[in-house]
Amino acid sequence: MARDGAVYTCQACGAVHNKWAGQCNTCQAWNTLVEEVSGPRPPGALTPSRSKARSGLIFEGLDVETPAPPRIPTGIDEFDRVCGGGIVPGSAILVGGDPGVGKSTLLLQVAAQAAMRGAACAYISGEEAVEQVRARAQRMGLGAAPVRLAAETALRDIVEALKREHFDLVVIDSIQTLWSDQIEAGPGSVAQVRAAAGELVRLAKKRRIAVVLVGHVTKDGQIAGPRVVEHMVDAVLSFEGERGYPFRILRGAKNRFGATDEIGVFEMGDAGLREVRNPSALFLNEGGERAAGAAVFAGIEGSRPVLVEFQALVAPSAYGTPRRAVVGWDSGRLAMVLAVLEARCGLGFGDRDIYLNVAGGLRISEPAADLAAAAALASSALDQPLPQDAVVFGEVSLSGEVRTVGRAEARLKEAAKLGFARALAPASAAEGSPLKVSGVGRLADAVRRIGDNAWD
Ligand code: TYD
Ligand code: MG
Repeated sequence: MARDGAVYTCQACGAVHNKWAGQCNTCQAWNTLVEEVSGPRPPGALTPSRSKARSGLIFEGLDVETPAPPRIPTGIDEFDRVCGGGIVPGSAILVGGDPGVGKSTLLLQVAAQAAMRGAACAYISGEEAVEQVRARAQRMGLGAAPVRLAAETALRDIVEALKREHFDLVVIDSIQTLWSDQIEAGPGSVAQVRAAAGELVRLAKKRRIAVVLVGHVTKDGQIAGPRVVEHMVDAVLSFEGERGYPFRILRGAKNRFGATDEIGVFEMGDAGLREVRNPSALFLNEGGERAAGAAVFAGIEGSRPVLVEFQALVAPSAYGTPRRAVVGWDSGRLAMVLAVLEARCGLGFGDRDIYLNVAGGLRISEPAADLAAAAALASSALDQPLPQDAVVFGEVSLSGEVRTVGRAEARLKEAAKLGFARALAPASAAEGSPLKVSGVGRLADAVRRIGDNAWD
């Protein structure tokens, strides 16, 4: 029997159970239930309040002009764009990412730059001493920024400080290091993370402080702690990058105040993160011949065109079960494209190892990349390089059709700007194209063009 007031929270998914069990029946994880004694209810918690209903609920219409929310520009355009044009005062933002990707660096730069533009900013670290943070800021040339630093993990002290002194923007690095003395569980536990995030978000709204919470990401790519934190905040941004590459991508996963398909591109260097304002050519292999197995995808990330090289290697397998390895693209999507190439285009991959890589550490999720991946695979399988000056885009359906994709004009224009002269693309893209379009209606047509090296 559970003790009075005791509940059991799954540390993996945040589901609350009133009985202990070995397995969470929500996410099926084993040994993740931890007992928590529910603390006193914070003021203004989400309980349906009857008195409020009696005191008079006022309905409003839609035909009232709502002014756009004001924004705090941070001066880091790549960050502001992902936020939807700057940080909204009083909003809560969660920034997640792997350890070491550069979250602390990014947010210290954001706080410092915003402070230099007149916003009252604080950076509270639960992981590093003030001296460490200061030394880093100085090394990045931000020593003169009027940002206030503190090292603290006690939620109560942070909240008190934020009530005492007004800030426009506060960075909390990280939410997993905070602890509330109202909760029995240890720091980093679901209960602590939820309580700390809840209290900070309430404070943000009440006192119009924009709060940025840094969150670590677990091995499987989820922000550690309960998913409920994601529901509490106004925006969830993820900061990504491949080990060994200097490029870092900030991506919106949720945003109440802007679009979620925008990306911000940065390059990590000796003096912190540098903005990459025109990333379209960043992920192309400069110079050198493009070998068999390489195809340049004309993609769109957010509002901007980005050209990136897909590299495929199809090789005889030494093992009974051939390998399928993919970096930067979805493995399910790869399986689908391989199946279509086998079933509709006469290529055989059964006894071959297949490696597919997106150059530069970018992760591509657009369906328009199907044709680029297929072209790279076919080019490697047939040992026939694509023309050096060709870009590729188009969605592939299971029936083997190549479908039209959005923003073909923008893709072609960017490719022309970067010196490409032709495109392997859905035939519909040809109209008004600045490039010569080798139009294809079916994937088999594309494979034939590659095999015969026939582009006119
Ligand atoms: P950090 O911001 O501490 O990552 P996170 O907070 O996401 O864990 O960044 C850590 C990495 O960034 C570290 O490996 C060193 C590197 N780095 C640079 O290359 N240049 C710099 O100017 C800074 C500040 C960090
Ligand atoms: Mg950090």
